[in-house]
Amino acid sequence: MTIRDTFNRPLRDLRISVTDRCNFRCTYCMPAAIYGESYKFLPRQQVLTFEEITRLTGIITRLGAVKIRLTGGEPLVREQVEKLVAMLAAVEGVGDLTLTTNGYLLPQKAQALREAGLQRITISLDSLDDAVFRRMNGNRSGVQAVLDGITAAEQAGFDPIKINAVVQRGVNDHTIVDMARYFKERGHVLRFIEYMDVGNLNEWRMEDVVSAHDIVERIGAEMPLEPLERNYKSEVALRYRYRDGGGEIGIIASVTKPFCGACSRMRLSAEGSIYTCLFAEKGTDLRGPLREGASDDEIEQIIRQTWGSRIDRYSEERAGIPVRRKKVEMYHIGG
Ligand code: GTP
Ligand code: 5AD
Ligand code: SF4
Ligand code: SF4
Repeated sequence: MTIRDTFNRPLRDLRISVTDRCNFRCTYCMPAAIYGESYKFLPRQQVLTFEEITRLTGIITRLGAVKIRLTGGEPLVREQVEKLVAMLAAVEGVGDLTLTTNGYLLPQKAQALREAGLQRITISLDSLDDAVFRRMNGNRSGVQAVLDGITAAEQAGFDPIKINAVVQRGVNDHTIVDMARYFKERGHVLRFIEYMDVGNLNEWRMEDVVSAHDIVERIGAEMPLEPLERNYKSEVALRYRYRDGGGEIGIIASVTKPFCGACSRMRLSAEGSIYTCLFAEKGTDLRGPLREGASDDEIEQIIRQTWGSRIDRYSEERAGIPVRRKKVEMYHIGG
């Protein structure tokens, strides 16, 4: 039974943040000046256990979610995350089990994740220029470490592999054509993400966004492209294929071409609240009821109520002007 929101949008995807911690400090997500040594991340007892996540996932899949994505923070810094993967792979109704990572820990983890039943993987990498990449991730990693992570994912048998790059004008946009060429040759689907005004800390300005249109023009001028249909209705990426048959790229144009109309995503934060939008101000707590002994039916009712009253369509409302409100941070609920 699939539940629907006030705009008749079904619940299809569940994005689970398994930790609010990260080993990178990307300027657009967790600027190092704020997330320094003394920053207090969630204490362990406030983070959902693997058993709690698995139980909630079981309830949410019964309500329609078929696609599960693990995110963070950085999901691979959660100890033994592969155990959680194995538990989720066994949940009835889970049709697609995937994970988004910065790639740094993949040389240690890729094989175990694959064996545990992870079906697909997406790796973030914003530039192939070492100085540019270091500037964007708070100097936590060079390019080679992430390329090694991609190699480890290939060797573990993940195929296709998607690569996500956030594009910021004047920061890494001069390196996008190089990236496209590199991943075209390597045979992975590269997706560029328009820089978004998620959270409250990244001082987003519309001028910093390079539009999907510009990205396609710049790459297409060197390697001709043609548009493709979306794979499925709620897919976030616009797809293009190289005319020479050399694969495809994607653009996630949540600023210039918002896709709220088909948004079927629910997010579960590391501390057990559900959010019905990436730009939400508030979540609905499930950990409280869970730990106070609520039954599956009682938790299901809370989720039904939350999704049933959902009115979110932030990206369509924003239309280029950031709305002044206290939004949840991205590392809290995952990308
Ligand atoms: P697949 O197509 O199945 O590979 O999954 P996906 O596109 O959901 O993958 P991914 O998690 O890599 O999403 C890519 C990026 O798109 C995210 O990291 C976000 O930056 C952005 N994104 C995903 N979902 C939403 C959404 O609901 N709203 C907005 N505004 N941006 C989103
Ligand atoms: N705008 C666009 N994408 C972002 N991500 C994190 N913050 C932002 C932002 N402000 C991306 C990461 C990663 C995914 C989880 O979300 O780069 O690819
Ligand atoms: Fe970490 Fe991803 Fe945020 Fe970068 S974007 S700080 S890798 S959670
Ligand atoms: Fe969905 Fe909110 Fe993103 Fe729109 S802005 S696509 S409603 S998560």
